[in-house]
Amino acid sequence: MTRAGDRRTMERRSPNEPPESGSHMTNSHILSQRFAYARPSSVQETLQILKERGENARLLAGGTNLLVDLKLEKASATRTAELPGQHPAGEPMTVVDISRLPGLRGVEERRDGVHIGALTPIRELATSPLLWEKYTALAEAAAAFGSTQVAIMGTIGGNVANGSPASDTVPALLVFGADATLVGPEGERVVSVGDLLEAPGRTRIRAGEILTSIRLPLPTPGTASAFLKISRVRADLSKVSVAVRVARDGDRVTSARIELGSVGPTIVRARDAETVLSQEPLDSEAAKRAGERAAAEIRPIDDVRSTADYRRRAAIALVHDSLLTAWKRASAGVKAVPRAPHEQTQAVPSGERDGLVLQADEKSRITLTVNGTRHELDVFPNELLLNVLREKLELTGSKYGCGIGECGACTVWLDGQPVLGCLVLAVSTDGRSVLTIEGEAVQGELSALQRAFVDENAFQCGYCTPGMVMMAKKLLEEIGEPTEDEIRDYLKGNYCRCTGYASIVRAVRRAAGLGQGTQE
Ligand SMILES: Cc1cc2nc3c(=O)[nH]c(=O)nc-3n(C[C@H](O)[C@H](O)[C@H](O)COP(=O)(O)OP(=O)(O)OC[C@H]3O[C@@H](n4cnc5c(N)ncnc54)[C@H](O)[C@@H]3O)c2cc1C
Ligand code: FES
Ligand code: FES
Repeated sequence: MTRAGDRRTMERRSPNEPPESGSHMTNSHILSQRFAYARPSSVQETLQILKERGENARLLAGGTNLLVDLKLEKASATRTAELPGQHPAGEPMTVVDISRLPGLRGVEERRDGVHIGALTPIRELATSPLLWEKYTALAEAAAAFGSTQVAIMGTIGGNVANGSPASDTVPALLVFGADATLVGPEGERVVSVGDLLEAPGRTRIRAGEILTSIRLPLPTPGTASAFLKISRVRADLSKVSVAVRVARDGDRVTSARIELGSVGPTIVRARDAETVLSQEPLDSEAAKRAGERAAAEIRPIDDVRSTADYRRRAAIALVHDSLLTAWKRASAGVKAVPRAPHEQTQAVPSGERDGLVLQADEKSRITLTVNGTRHELDVFPNELLLNVLREKLELTGSKYGCGIGECGACTVWLDGQPVLGCLVLAVSTDGRSVLTIEGEAVQGELSALQRAFVDENAFQCGYCTPGMVMMAKKLLEEIGEPTEDEIRDYLKGNYCRCTGYASIVRAVRRAAGLGQGTQE
């Protein structure tokens, strides 16, 4: 809740000035909570910092959960109670930025299965041909993520460690019997992903531990899977999600696993529903019976996204549809059709000064190249890239809309990837390159993409347009001739309150050389 007057107070404050001690204010424009910052350069160094800081440390990977929670004060960056032998109450916590750690990113097939580094972005899962072929439910779950930018920034490790019952990749990981490798002060341990889940927002990852990778066992022959999700709009968490895996031998189901998201305090396995399928041919009747059993096993609640009753009904339909889809796929030759077939491997950003440790009231000098111009800037740990661009560099093209990752108005490119400036710590961008809307026009001449937006009247107030253009630019780089559905899907995390989107889709198609063609 925003307290009366906070927003105005914070807007008057210099962005470099730390908030007064104890004055925590919920204001998504800035990150008002103060924290120390560490950017270790190896897993060993991370473990050392976690050991020193004890419960006073929070790992930061993509930041799409942690920074939103800090902004909304769902998470605190300050100790509320004194820990014996540890740190006093009121002391700022340390955000430990692991986003640049080497060796924790990528999807790799080995003899014992497919290994996924904890820092692998969700988008990389959605574009991996290997996952689409062998672990389709996981690729589909990643492709169903609520926003392209969030999928680019968010990691699989963060999705698991966040412990949300709405985490899309987790039901899919569970149907494949995935396990997780964690490294801590006592060494390495391997546990099933299911055993890590404890309660909403809580996992059994121990203090001082870091999740380093996830392994998917090799699927047995005749296995196929599917993931389905219902949400209020594409760019949202699920009301209900379902992942299924079936193994087929002729016309019999030899094994099945069904996991549902957003219908209980953690992901719910529908064991009773699985028994319905045992050794039977899988037809629509059997799939419906399994759906009804699953609906009886879940424990949904009424909340802002849906009602318990709707969730039960939707679960029946999703279990039915996903089972039949997986069953068809398990027949030889039936392949999933990837919604995002374009493989994208992101380079690990390397920092000029990894190994950095900063106190909450200490500035760090960062070097940032923006639209080709190199800048040196002094930033506090809690300053955000968007605010630095707008307020320090006076590049006001990137807009502040929601401040919590939901509207896409702040989209800029960071090292060639679109990200949300409102959810990037400026200090973490040291040594990196940013492209903003101001870099799009060359010598005052609008780019072909900007010209297409003008020609198609693809804006009214124009507030969303910089973010739309930066996203559309990346889309056209990835997919030369996008379909209307691909455009709508790629831009699902960019809200427009004026146009109704039709003219935006036309503009992107025009810029792709697909004429003034309207598919509307
Ligand atoms: C607009 C928006 C839309 C979203 N849509 C979806 C959606 O459709 N589906 C979905 O599932 N989620 C969604 N999310 C949630 C979020 O993006 C995902 O959960 C994402 O995968 C989190 O990854 P991250 O790297 O950003 O995590 P962070 O925010 O960096 O971390 C999340 C938590 O995990 C801990 N952590 C991170 N990495 C590790 C590690 N390696 N070891 C131990 N602990 C770790 C952190 O300390 C923190 O507590 C959405 C979020 C936003 C803001
Ligand atoms: S302001 Fe960043 S997503 Fe809305
Ligand atoms: S043109 Fe007004 S919000 Fe998109």
